[in-house]
Amino acid sequence: MTAGIVSVGCYTPLRRVSNDELSKTLDTSDEWIRSHTGISSRHIASDEETCSYMATQAARMAMENAKIDKKELGFIIVATISPDYRDFPATANLVQKELGVGNICSFDIKAACTGFTYALALGRSLILSGALATGLVIGAEKLSAIIDWSDRATAVLFGDGAGAVLLGSGNGGEDIVDSIMRTDGSGADALYMPVGGTSTPFKLGETTESELCLTMDGHRVYDFAVKVNVEVVRELMIRNSLTNADIDYIVPHQANYRIILAASKRANIPLEKYYLNMDEYANTSSASIPIALAEMDSKGLLKKGMKIITVGFGSGLTYGGNYIIW
Ligand code: ACO
Repeated sequence: MTAGIVSVGCYTPLRRVSNDELSKTLDTSDEWIRSHTGISSRHIASDEETCSYMATQAARMAMENAKIDKKELGFIIVATISPDYRDFPATANLVQKELGVGNICSFDIKAACTGFTYALALGRSLILSGALATGLVIGAEKLSAIIDWSDRATAVLFGDGAGAVLLGSGNGGEDIVDSIMRTDGSGADALYMPVGGTSTPFKLGETTESELCLTMDGHRVYDFAVKVNVEVVRELMIRNSLTNADIDYIVPHQANYRIILAASKRANIPLEKYYLNMDEYANTSSASIPIALAEMDSKGLLKKGMKIITVGFGSGLTYGGNYIIW
């Protein structure tokens, strides 16, 4: 039994916000953002473009591309840290309703920017265990709703969007061969939302707006991100006897160009092997890898038999990756 990606889809909001547009309301510049992050623009969702809406659109595209009957679907996993509802119901439950599929298993997972790589590994396990044969793994984020738009250190980094893959029992050689899922919880305070959970609840008149937004120690996250990028890619290569020449693409979480450049140098893997699109979409957290896969697919870059490594890293601090034969 094997588990593989059958098709991909994505949805990004129509509204594209350039660095220059951000500079009108923030003390920043196109030059600073580009040189420090590699980001030129991000897509920002409207009120109607909720997390579940974007997830559903991406899922529909993946299902249409696979031409499968709705009845075949066995599970929906949504990876997100910006769900429609803070704790429940899960965004995946809303996607299940919108897709009009049967009363199948649907749940969210919260592993921040590593969410998609975790969810892909989970979906693979569901299939390999024999429990379910086909399902959707979706990364969807409306990060614009949890960003402090007055904080230039974070506001320039993020964007909205969703990407989805349809997983099936491997046929024709498609395969998710190997997965890594890890956490270093000692770094939980490096990237988090300070208030709103049960340990530090929202208090009317006391809680400030910025405490309800994403808070980050950029330098700590940067150092962690470079280190684990190298660790995950190297380990997947060693475990699967892969050389640089064997790998067609590394699809990393699209946080920051400089993180990927440093990781590529440290791992001694040519930068050209890394597929990058943070220039257009910025950091869309758990959506960034499936959006990249969908973009690569639409450009005709993904060919049967190609060897691909995904690598994610983010709040938690979580990290992980998958080795895929397309
Ligand atoms: N525009 C202009 N100036 C800015 C901006 C901005 N948007 N943001 C910060 N600055 C200023 C700072 O105030 C500082 O000014 P000072 O020297 O007068 O004090 C100066 O630029 C340098 O700030 P640093 O924070 O040292 O800038 P750095 O080069 O480290 O870049 C960044 C910051 C891009 C956040 C970097 O630390 C980074 O990439 N960290 C990784 C974080 C990341 O990618 N997080 C995404 C989340 S990871 C995940 O996906 C979950």
